[in-house]
Amino acid sequence: MALDTLDAPSASRPDTSPRPERDFKLHSPLGLLAELTHRCPLSCPYCSNPLALDPRQSELDTETWARVFSEAANLGVLQLHLSGGEPGARRDLVELVQAAHASGLYTNLITSAVGVTKETLQRLAKAGLDHVQISIQDSEPASADRIAGYEGAFARKNAFAAEVVALNIPLTVNVVIHRANIERVEQMVTLALQLGARRVEVAHVQYYGWALRNRGALMPTAAQVEQALKTVESLRKQHHGMIVIDAVVPDYYARLPKPCLSGWGRRSLNITPGGRVLPCHAAETIPGLEFWSVREHSLADIWANSPAFNAFRGTSWMQEPCRSCERREIDFGGCRCQALAITGDARATDPVCHLSPHHAKVAALAEMRSDAAYAYRTPAPSK
Ligand code: SF4
Ligand code: FES
Repeated sequence: MALDTLDAPSASRPDTSPRPERDFKLHSPLGLLAELTHRCPLSCPYCSNPLALDPRQSELDTETWARVFSEAANLGVLQLHLSGGEPGARRDLVELVQAAHASGLYTNLITSAVGVTKETLQRLAKAGLDHVQISIQDSEPASADRIAGYEGAFARKNAFAAEVVALNIPLTVNVVIHRANIERVEQMVTLALQLGARRVEVAHVQYYGWALRNRGALMPTAAQVEQALKTVESLRKQHHGMIVIDAVVPDYYARLPKPCLSGWGRRSLNITPGGRVLPCHAAETIPGLEFWSVREHSLADIWANSPAFNAFRGTSWMQEPCRSCERREIDFGGCRCQALAITGDARATDPVCHLSPHHAKVAALAEMRSDAAYAYRTPAPSK
């Protein structure tokens, strides 16, 4: 079937979607994560992409993404995160940025830096790209390349950061922390400063996708986490006014859960390369949810009526102890995908919460470290 047919806007189609009674306030989404492709030259063992990657043939075409960006802006979305995989693997990346910019969206390119040439970056800047985020695997080149599963990645990232800064595009460096690099938090923040980043995210691995598969090999010790948190505090004081350092306590060592994505279906959406719209990047791990696609529905219809988005909105789906907890509209019961991964029940209280009857499992899992080799992300489907 021709993609044009599949990608036809839904506005002309009869809307037969259900209109459920709502026991929650429907907010406007603020952010959209567009996973343009699952193809990527790197194979990071903590990749949040699903274990089964969308093949290239199933990716949305340029026109469909452009329509979705326009619908997103009309729906209230302000920030568009162009991600993957490696978004630079899309030959139409410049056109996509142009379309997003024309829709009035603030565009953030989340890239490995490998696969976006200097020339492409210059064209992206002209097309209106507002911000770039690159990830750094380590401050030591050999270790960084080993973690990325790609020789030369570290050198390319350094060169790319310089190209971004030379074009006056604001740069954020994202350092993903795990057992192999946690003792070099200070060196990685120093590197981000040297690269000219305005912001650095010290992001402890979250155990979804490939990271869940590699959990034992990635898990730091409690002592390492404690030291890293102290280091971040001291670096914040030392570099105050020079760089913003964002960091949070990693889930498996926390006492209260994160309000994952500010609550399920409250403020953001994810679109897979093939067009399925998800409340979060790991939502497809939850069995029984029905995800709608931008090939068949408008984004506004999906946001308001998709069964997957409505599954965990409000508080009526909650179990105890969340149901009667005073924090239920602060952290929304934590992360549904983590509740599923650890307790087997997506409706359960996130076991990171100290009030969860499963909380002890989190501490037990944090103790289950292994020195096994990383299971690297399966290479992207061939061209
Ligand atoms: Fe949050 Fe539920 Fe824990 Fe209360 S019981 S703090 S709502 S996760
Ligand atoms: Fe899915 Fe947190 S990652 S709800």
